[in-house]
Amino acid sequence: MPRKHKLETNDPNGQKSSPVEVVIEDVTTHPLCLHGPTLLFSTEKGRFFACASCRNKECTVHIDEEDWKKESVRKRNEKYYSLIPKIDKAAAWSNFIEVKSRHYVDRAFCNTCEDLYIVSQPSKKHAKDHRIITPLTDEQLSRPTTWLPMLENDSVEAQYMFTKKSVTTVFGILKNNNISNILCIGTPSIHEEAESRSDFNSILLDYDKRHCNFYPPNKFIWYNMFNNYMFNGNEDEKVLKKFFKKSKDGGICIVMDPPFGGRVEPLVQTLKELTATYKNVCDRPDDDLLPVLWAFPYFSEPYITNMAPEIKMHDYQIEYTNHKKFLNKTKDGRKFVSPIRFFTNLPLRTIDLSNDSNYKMCNKCKFYVATSNSHCHKCGSCTSKNGMTYKHCDVCKRCVKPTFFHCKECEKCCQQRNHVCGVVVESQINRNQSLVSNLGKQLTGTCFI
Ligand SMILES: C[S@@+](CC[C@H](N)C(=O)[O-])C[C@H]1O[C@@H](n2cnc3c(N)ncnc32)[C@H](O)[C@@H]1O
Ligand SMILES: [Zn+2]
Ligand SMILES: [Zn+2]
Ligand SMILES: [Zn+2]
Ligand SMILES: [Zn+2]
Ligand SMILES: [Zn+2]
Ligand SMILES: [Zn+2]
Repeated sequence: MPRKHKLETNDPNGQKSSPVEVVIEDVTTHPLCLHGPTLLFSTEKGRFFACASCRNKECTVHIDEEDWKKESVRKRNEKYYSLIPKIDKAAAWSNFIEVKSRHYVDRAFCNTCEDLYIVSQPSKKHAKDHRIITPLTDEQLSRPTTWLPMLENDSVEAQYMFTKKSVTTVFGILKNNNISNILCIGTPSIHEEAESRSDFNSILLDYDKRHCNFYPPNKFIWYNMFNNYMFNGNEDEKVLKKFFKKSKDGGICIVMDPPFGGRVEPLVQTLKELTATYKNVCDRPDDDLLPVLWAFPYFSEPYITNMAPEIKMHDYQIEYTNHKKFLNKTKDGRKFVSPIRFFTNLPLRTIDLSNDSNYKMCNKCKFYVATSNSHCHKCGSCTSKNGMTYKHCDVCKRCVKPTFFHCKECEKCCQQRNHVCGVVVESQINRNQSLVSNLGKQLTGTCFI
């Protein structure tokens, strides 16, 4: 039976629009678009198939569920079997070896053509306006995220790289859990770090196919995390299964950092499908979700814990190198605190932040929390979500933001500023959310925490 998960979309102006549900079911029988199988969406007006790739406006495939039953529509959609692109990973890898054998000044990458080449022997002529990066040292070849122009197109790739500190934190967590195999989904900087260390084994699954220029075929899969689609089909499936098999004894973790606006339901579904494949390959009959470290905005917490209750949010604020908003101050002069947290089913006590003065150990919760977070004895937890110190409301029986007050007429805690009884004003949560929505055209839905 397909399961439905109700979410409300939030348009960039903070206005609520009609709820859109994603129907979670096997997508392999769905119509295709250039990004693999579509997802089934459901609104008040009806159900339709549309692109799974995060908010890809260029993708025009939109098929009503009823129409999909028609033979002619199915026939027309068949063209995608041959239209969906594939990459020649073996050729890309032998090209890499060839380029790497050259002096570093003779190595170049054309970002426009996504082509790594030898300057003295270009395989084709790169036009004047092409973005060429040269020279390329060995170190640069092994860490492409340090120089590849980031695709900051928020509506699709939304690439934001972890700072060194955040990468170190990830590896510390994995070490504390005796995990040495990493399935990197949309986390190329974690993959690069793992590849530079002998104590970790890793594979990168990412939608940015430029990475295929730098890795052997068994180290990179061109992938869409919203429909668990591998563009090279069977060949990639074999690669993934081999990776799973090899990681049977060393512990494995999925480290995932989706574009900020991605929807929670298909991502959880992807985690479940990858888990099922792993359990099948490694002959593990239990159905516990594979360990996961998932970077996502804190206000997605209700959605994630609703769909996968074993995944908990940790207070660590993940930092990004190229996120202007995270480096600047907000209009009211406060430092913009990263809204991105780790969601994980690993024990929160294994996240050791003893070297970071922004965090303290809560002796009641028994894990690290932000120094501004205080333990609420009534809730039995450190309740702040966003770096502000929350306060407890005895009527609502929960902690709320410090800017909230309990309105007797509304019978709940409301944002103090501009409060008009009965009228829902844009709350602090929504304001933070729209900050991120400006970064990533947030579509994960509204939530009220
Ligand atoms: C927010 S960035 C995360 C990068 C990460 N913080 C790091 O330092 O490695 C999102 C990543 O997901 C990838 N991505 C975007 N859409 C994707 C999709 N539909 N499927 C798989 N990967 C995707 C991007 O190419 C990018 O690497
Ligand atoms: Zn598409
Ligand atoms: Zn070019
Ligand atoms: Zn606590
Ligand atoms: Zn409380
Ligand atoms: Zn209250
Ligand atoms: Zn009121």
